[in-house]
Amino acid sequence: MPNAYISGTGFHVPPRVVTNDALRTEYGIDTTSDWIIQRTGIEERRFAEEGVGTADLALPAARDAIERAGLRPHDLDMILFATLSPDHAFPGSGCYLQAKLGLCDGNDAKFVPALDVRNQCSGFLYSLGAATSMVKSGACKHVLVVGAEKHSAALDLTTRGRTVASLFGDGAGAVVVSATEEDRGVRGWWLGADGRHASVLSQKVWDIKKRNFIPLDEEGRGLVEPSHMWAQMDGKLVFRHAVERMIGALMRACMELSITRDDIDLFFFHQANLRINQYVADQIGIPPERLVSNIQRYGNTTAATIPILLAEAERSGKLERGMKVAMVGFGSGFTWGAAVVDW
Ligand code: ACO
Repeated sequence: MPNAYISGTGFHVPPRVVTNDALRTEYGIDTTSDWIIQRTGIEERRFAEEGVGTADLALPAARDAIERAGLRPHDLDMILFATLSPDHAFPGSGCYLQAKLGLCDGNDAKFVPALDVRNQCSGFLYSLGAATSMVKSGACKHVLVVGAEKHSAALDLTTRGRTVASLFGDGAGAVVVSATEEDRGVRGWWLGADGRHASVLSQKVWDIKKRNFIPLDEEGRGLVEPSHMWAQMDGKLVFRHAVERMIGALMRACMELSITRDDIDLFFFHQANLRINQYVADQIGIPPERLVSNIQRYGNTTAATIPILLAEAERSGKLERGMKVAMVGFGSGFTWGAAVVDW
């Protein structure tokens, strides 16, 4: 059975920087930079322009990862696209990305399967687990795993929506998971979900139990209440469960691999809130220099946080071949996961 390793990383963030102060001055939100930094660590985030979709953000990240893997798009056997902000209700953004990568063009068109993964902040880790299994089973040699979000168009950028709107940003990260006979790669992945809390963090734009699934006005136009239009969150409950589940996922990973935190060189946590991550790191005894963070610059890019972190750490020289890294995430569902990789 081959091992599955990460052969390339890539990322892309849109150029427009939106500082905490800009949320106040440009969007008129009643907030302060100090409030946001104290509770979340976020200083700024990126917002994509009008006309840019989620698959558009994913494209440069995917190309970057494919190129760094020494491959071309036609070498891919499958695309896994993790997002909670797909371009449309359907089809999945993975299909849009496949076409944008040129896989459907010319005589050598390769109609690889494209699967969207709807596991929010845990979407990248769920996808990494699935890609690893596809590679280890021999079904695929190279799987592109993308996490991409265009949150900015779906945030209530008013004082009413400030609790959620101040957290999120746009961006995309990608990795290629490839087969190798070398003794390296994904050593294990552990995923979980607790559907009892499915409504604690959700965006219920429509309700399919109802006819019509979106209420209509007299002329047949859809009417969506603000409470359904925008994401709703019980922040304190999310915080509590995130801490518990992330610690649990990491401890399980260590136990099953018979390693300790001291064997792990770098920790890549989902970037939802710097305070959550610092609390988890303190509880486990992870030294600050081994915890990688970029939430200060990008906010929470949901499925994209971990692959963006990996790509940046590799570019800066912090993440090197031979290191043992742990990735941990938690999000809506609730869902969570951890993975340990020998880089
Ligand atoms: N600026 C100023 N005031 C604000 C802001 C803001 N951006 N947002 C909320 N407030 C106000 C609230 O309106 C409230 O005012 P009130 O007391 O007059 O009603 C007050 O601040 C306190 O609000 P809380 O929601 O109780 O604030 P809390 O201390 O819980 O912090 C936060 C909110 C930062 C969201 C925190 O609960 C948190 O980080 N939770 C984790 C949630 C998370 O990370 N979600 C990301 C998605 S899930 C994931 O990726 C893991």
